Amino acid sequence: MNGASTDSKTGALNTRLACPKDLESVSQLLPELGGPHYGERFPGKTSYEFCRWKYTSNPAGDAAVGVALDGDRVVSVVAGTPKRVRIGGEVVLAFELGDFITANSYRNRGLFSKLINLVCDSARQRGAAFVYVRPNDLSFPILVSRLSFVEPRKMDERRYVVPSAAMERKLGIPAVIPRALGADWILRRIVVRDVKTSVRVEPVTRFDDGVSRLWARLQDCYRFSLVRDSHYLNWRYIDCPTPYSAWAAYRDDELVGYLVAFAGSSQPLGTFLDLFTHPEDEDAASALVRAAIDALEQKGVRVIYAWTLQYGAEAAAARTLARACFLVKKQPLHVAIRFLDDNLSIRGLPSSDWQLTVGDFDGS
Ligand SMILES: CC(C)(COP(=O)(O)OP(=O)(O)OC[C@H]1O[C@@H](n2cnc3c(N)ncnc32)[C@H](O)[C@@H]1OP(=O)(O)O)[C@@H](O)C(=O)NCCC(=O)NCCS
Repeated sequence: MNGASTDSKTGALNTRLACPKDLESVSQLLPELGGPHYGERFPGKTSYEFCRWKYTSNPAGDAAVGVALDGDRVVSVVAGTPKRVRIGGEVVLAFELGDFITANSYRNRGLFSKLINLVCDSARQRGAAFVYVRPNDLSFPILVSRLSFVEPRKMDERRYVVPSAAMERKLGIPAVIPRALGADWILRRIVVRDVKTSVRVEPVTRFDDGVSRLWARLQDCYRFSLVRDSHYLNWRYIDCPTPYSAWAAYRDDELVGYLVAFAGSSQPLGTFLDLFTHPEDEDAASALVRAAIDALEQKGVRVIYAWTLQYGAEAAAARTLARACFLVKKQPLHVAIRFLDDNLSIRGLPSSDWQLTVGDFDGS
């Protein structure tokens, strides 16, 4: 078994990289992490099928999943998902970490720490330059205090609130009244700019070569971005068991941008996962956000979330999301990186032109 080990602190527990037979047990542990709405990620399917999609069908390679086992039962998981990232002018392999969970009665024994090191070792052996994660307030201190992670950026959690729904919730005014008076339409006009050139927006059922050509044209405009070609985007958003919605923007039949969003089925909440355009193409970004807000509102969504970097992302996509999702949560979100390539360091990271969105991370 891959790197199997036990130690005095973890008693009889094995820690090693998962093999296919562990997947069922991993998928039984994850719902605790995903919370009550975890099932929204795979309607009509199982947690096992979701794991299989995530860990074994990624065009960048299989995930490195570290597990701790008590007998046959997985009691702690750390997953590393390979992603291709363009930094400066170079494409490198990175692993995005997630699915951090240790079963309640096995916590504070060093299992998570051990699995992080195991997954990082595996990523290094597979040639990865770094691992990255959007940790929560429980895992972040462990990562930076004892596991060599650094925080290159923080992200703001932002939201767009449909005004008629907010008035109903806060003031008790039935939403139909402000909606009929145009409140929703007016706010959307204020926070999403007018589109001055001719941009056509259409729903996307599958990303084609047009999106790979868009990436090829724009890749030099960004200094830190996941490789956004059709192989990656189809795996991440179309073949995923989560029912995302996607739109593409066209100018003169040329694809000039796309947006991917999610609408919850059990709560009226949505998320903008990925918006990508030329850094100066405000019209494409605005047309996409406008179309998505309209479509999500029609599905009953009343609040739409987005994440934007606090600095380093100045492109039209980030500016448009920041303007539309104008309410900012006080507590920013952490981003943490551990470098595996000795030539990389936090000071060597690009200072500007980042493209980093919700969908570049685990979840949602
Ligand atoms: C976050 C979480 C995964 C940590 O798992 P864990 O296995 O308890 O983590 P560890 O045991 O490695 O570290 C926890 C603490 O135990 C300590 N510890 C105890 N024995 C240890 C040992 N032998 N070796 C290393 N650390 C040890 C660590 O120092 C750490 O202390 P700190 O918080 O003061 O830094 C776990 O709390 C969890 O599942 N939480 C709920 C889900 C969640 O929020 N996940 C994070 C999503 S981003």
